[in-house]
Amino acid sequence: MKQSSDAREIQRSEREHFDHKMTREINVLEEEMDSKKGQVWIDILGLQGGLRGKSVLECACGAGKLTTVLAEQAKSVRSFDISPQSAKITRQRIEKKHLKNVKVDVASMEELPYKDESVDIVVGLFILHHLADLEQGIRQVFRVLKPGGRAVFYETSGGNPILMFWRNHLTGHWGIPKLGTKDEHPLTRADLETIASACRGTTKVSYPRFRFFGKLYFQLLRSVKMVRPLFEGLDTAVHTCFPFFRKYSYQVMITLTK
Ligand SMILES: C[S@@+](CC[C@H](N)C(=O)[O-])C[C@H]1O[C@@H](n2cnc3c(N)ncnc32)[C@H](O)[C@@H]1O
Repeated sequence: MKQSSDAREIQRSEREHFDHKMTREINVLEEEMDSKKGQVWIDILGLQGGLRGKSVLECACGAGKLTTVLAEQAKSVRSFDISPQSAKITRQRIEKKHLKNVKVDVASMEELPYKDESVDIVVGLFILHHLADLEQGIRQVFRVLKPGGRAVFYETSGGNPILMFWRNHLTGHWGIPKLGTKDEHPLTRADLETIASACRGTTKVSYPRFRFFGKLYFQLLRSVKMVRPLFEGLDTAVHTCFPFFRKYSYQVMITLTK
C-alpha cells in the first residue's frame, strides 16, 4: 500500500519523537512492569487465562514493559514499533529476562511485515491515536489475525468535553505542560466509526476504568506523589458509583473480533 506524503511525514515525526525520548530516558531499562501491575493490564484487556498456547502480536511496544508480561504467559510474542530505539530497548529487556519466545521488529502498523492470518491475538496500548492512517492500521490488523482471533487496544479517548477543552486550550499555557507528540489526538467519535467500518468483524467499545482526576494529577501534580492515591481513588469511586459517566473517561478500550 502506498502511503500519502502526509502519512509518511507523521510517521517520520513519531519515529523521531520516540527515538529521542528513548535515548533521553537513561533509566528506561530499569523501569519494570512488576508482575502485579502486569496482571492488572492483562485483566483490563480481558486476556486473563486467554494467552496460554497463543501467538500474540503486540503493536507499538515502546520500551517493552508489557512485552515481557505477555511473553511470560503466551506461546510466542512478536512485537514491533516504528521507533528503532524503542525496538532496541525492548530487545535488551527481553535479553535481560532471558525470554526466548519473543521477536521484535521495527515496523509501522500501517504496513505490517507479517503473513495473513498468522496470529491469534493482537494487543496495543496507546497506539491507535498515534497512527498516521488509522483505517489502514486496522485493516492490517485484520489481515494478520486468524479467523476467530481478537485484537484489543487500550487508548486515550476524546469523549470528555472538559478534558478536551483543557487539552486544546489550556495545555501549553500558564505553565501547564503540553504532553505527547504534535500529531497524536485522543480518539474522537469519528475515529471510533473509522475503526468500526475498517473492522471486518465485531467491534466493542468499553470503559474498564474511569480516568479524569488521574489525568489532571498526571499533568499538574506528578511530582507530589503523596496525593496520587487521592486522585486515583476519586476516579475509582466515579467508575463504581456512577456508571453513566464511564463514557467520559479519558481512556477507552476497543476490542475487535474477526
Ligand atoms: C504512547 S507510546 C506507547 C508505547 C507502549 N505501547 C506503552 O504503552 O508504553 C506510542 C508508541 O507508538 C509508536 N508508534 C507511533 N506511530 C506508529 C506507527 N505508525 N506504527 C508503529 N508504531 C508507532 C511510537 O514509537 C511509540 O512507541
